[in-house]
Amino acid sequence: MAEDLTILKEATKEEKYQSLLPQIEGLIYGETNLVANLANIAAALKEGMDFFWVGFYLVDSEDELVLGPFQGPVACTRIRKGKGVCGSSWDQNKTLIVPNVDEFPGHIACASASKSEIVLPIIKNDKIIGVLDVDSDKLNDFDDMDHQYLKKILDLLP
Ligand code: SME
Repeated sequence: MAEDLTILKEATKEEKYQSLLPQIEGLIYGETNLVANLANIAAALKEGMDFFWVGFYLVDSEDELVLGPFQGPVACTRIRKGKGVCGSSWDQNKTLIVPNVDEFPGHIACASASKSEIVLPIIKNDKIIGVLDVDSDKLNDFDDMDHQYLKKILDLLP
């Protein structure tokens, strides 16, 4: 059975990630179901990092992502390859950090409060199976530290 997360309130971003990483490892340990693991990762990141929106878009066909487990306000269900930050990250097979979503050509505004965003591809057996998308209601809220820790978290997936 899952236990409550230990959440650091008065801590730096790095301390929060460092505290969460082993807890997420424990949460998904021994579980191979992708949806269950993504659901718990989204919940742990939402609670532990206090993100505005965090969730997954999964490859549904050759040219479309579909909404997966997430935490936060309701979101768009489908994103075409190459569209928005998520579809671009998938298309380019790379992490995209967008300091101001209003300046990203083709950004898909699911929530008007969203101001900055980071999207990482999820790679399994050399194939992209989806993306992790984190949105902030503050400008310029993501940097390479987010990239490094979020990547470590995705690397925990079996
Ligand atoms: N803004 C994203 C769409 C997903 S939502 O933000 C949850 C994009 O441009 O791909």
